[in-house]
This record gives sequence, C-alpha cells and structure tokens, in this order.
Amino acid sequence: MIILGIETSCDETSAAIIGDGIEIISYTITSSIEIQNKYGGVVPEVAARRQTEYIIPVLEETFTKAKMTKNNIDAIAVTIGPGLMGPLLIGLETTKTLSYIWQKPLIPINHLIGHIHSAWLDEGSPTKPQFPLLALIASGGHTELLVMKSHTDLTKIGSTQDDAVGEAFDKVARALDLGYPGGPILEKHADNGDMTHNFPRPMITSSDYNFSYSGLKTAVVHELQKHQPLTDQERDDICASFREAAFDVLIAKTMRAAKEYDVKSILITGGVAASRYLKDLMTKAVQSGLNDQISLHVPPLKLATDNATYIAAAGYFLFDKLALDPHKDLDKILSLEPNPNLTSLEI
Ligand code: KG4
Ligand code: ZN
Repeated sequence: MIILGIETSCDETSAAIIGDGIEIISYTITSSIEIQNKYGGVVPEVAARRQTEYIIPVLEETFTKAKMTKNNIDAIAVTIGPGLMGPLLIGLETTKTLSYIWQKPLIPINHLIGHIHSAWLDEGSPTKPQFPLLALIASGGHTELLVMKSHTDLTKIGSTQDDAVGEAFDKVARALDLGYPGGPILEKHADNGDMTHNFPRPMITSSDYNFSYSGLKTAVVHELQKHQPLTDQERDDICASFREAAFDVLIAKTMRAAKEYDVKSILITGGVAASRYLKDLMTKAVQSGLNDQISLHVPPLKLATDNATYIAAAGYFLFDKLALDPHKDLDKILSLEPNPNLTSLEI
C-alpha cells in the first residue's frame, strides 16, 4: 500500500510517499525556520503564510522525485494535531481537497503517534521494533513515556509537568543568545565543554515517570547571571553540564520503565532524539543495564525532526482504524478540524 503523507504542524512543510509503512519512496521538507530565526522562535502567522506558499511545490516535488502520479497513491495521511492552528489548517484543508478530488481515503494522524513510527522507517536498523515497546517522545512541545502493546494500544505512563525537554534546550540557548532552535547549536557548544557544574536533576528519584524541566532551566539561567560576562569556555561548560543533567533524567526514567514494563524495544523520537550524544548515552545505558534482547531504536537525524515520512508510515499502520473513505465518509472528511492540543492518547 502506497501512502502520501502531509505534515504542516509547525514551521516545516513536508510531503512523503511511503510503501507499506516502511519504505521511503520519496520525501520533501522545506522550512520557514530561517525567516522565524529573526524572531527568536516560531511566529504562528508567519509559519501559516509560508505553509500556503510551500505546500503545492512540496507536493509536486515529492511526486516528481518518486516518478509517480496520484494514480499510484492508495491513501493520504495528514497531521491533524497537536501543533499550531494556522499551519495545521493548511495541511488538513489541502488533504481534504485532494481526498475529495482524487477519491482517495484520508487518514488523520496524531503528530506524536507519527513521531513514534519513524522507527519503522529506519533503514539503518537491523530489526523493526517489537511489541510491547516503550516510546520516549522528546521534542520541543512534549516529553512523554508511552507503553505500546500494538500500533493502536498505547498507555501514557508519564509526561512533563511543565516545560518539555526540547523547550528547555531552546530557552537555555536563548538565554545564551545562541539562536533558534536551541538544541543543535547548544549541542555543538556542549561537545566542546566540560561538566563543571552540577545542575539539579528534577524528579530523577520520584517513583512516577513524570518529568520537570522548568527548574533546571531556571538553575542554568541563574548560573549564567553569576558569570557575566561569560568566557567561551564557561559558556561551553554550562552547555555541557546542562545537557548532562537534562539527559540523565530522560535516561534514568526510560531505563526504569523498560524494566518495569518488561518491553522488547525502546524507541526515542522527537527532535531531541536528533542529539547524537543522547543516542550514545542511551545505547550505553541499554547495553549495561538491560538484557541484550531489548532493541534500541533512535531514528537518524533526517527522520527525527518534523517531516511527513512518519505521518505516512503511521497512516499505513493505523489505516484500518482511522481511514475515512470519500465514497462513504465524505461528511466526516469535510467536517474534520485540526486539534492544536491533541494529546498522545487520542489516536
Ligand atoms: O520534534 P521537533 O522537530 O518539533 C516539535 O514537535 O517540537 O523537535 C524540535 C525540538 C526543539 O526544541 C529543538 O531544540 C530540539 O528538538 N532539538 C534538540 C537537538 N536537535 C533538535 N535538542 C537537543 N539536542 C539536539 N541535537
Ligand atoms: Zn514533532
């Protein structure tokens, strides 16, 4: 089954054509991030305006690269939330129109469930994820641990009580004047720094699987204020110490949950999974702390951050549950609305 995926939940405009949920036939991503960079973050109206400009060229390019036409496509999967209302609307209304004109089923996809499905697209991984699995979603908007018994059976066991981990990276980077998004730039500085500061690891010993990143961010900002003006080395040391504290908590909770729920695979997804350092730390933790039957899946950089490949993959695995057929469900398709606040439990 060949599925066209469309993702427009924030500043990326992306389309992808995916075979059987695992094969990337073609994909295109463009972003308005350079324009947004000027403002130090994503401005919803600017993002929405760019989505309208980019969506048709991105679709055309995706079909051209795949050497396919609409006749090759079995269905269209689109992000319905969470995200920014304006950008989500552009993707959804485009998909509703295509579904109607092309008479192809529409599959509305939760962006968070989408992220998890990037693990099935990783050509570098020798195995596909096995159920039951533990998924850590670590992005700019979410920090969640989910246990999945199948593609459609999932339980949220913990989430952040305040800031998301990626948000903490972005806020610390902003306090350091490093630009937006903060994660990748902060990671470069952290690689050059030493772990000289012992920042707090909020909730690391709490018996639940929840997270908190606001206190860590505040501790780092206070430390910065003490050291003004910062030398380059001091800045890099603070970046390294912050990153270590942030990842220590992610790893401790993920390892404990993997044991308690006796999972066969661990998946890390979301933009923060783009961190090579997190992947290294998690790999070591899995090798030393868990039995070697457990597989760790961290998507490569290009699949970790927002893009349409995993929206199409999720569309394939959730087709039976979610697909709406324009021949009989047209009213439902036309009345679909984006849900900017969708949570991971709402498939
Ligand atoms: O999943 P994503 O692309 O968008 C959301 O749905 O939020 O995640 C973006 C987040 C940003 O907060 C960004 O700073 C963070 O992922 N990020 C990183 C790294 N690369 C991106 N955080 C830490 N280390 C990185 N290398
Ligand atoms: Zn995302």
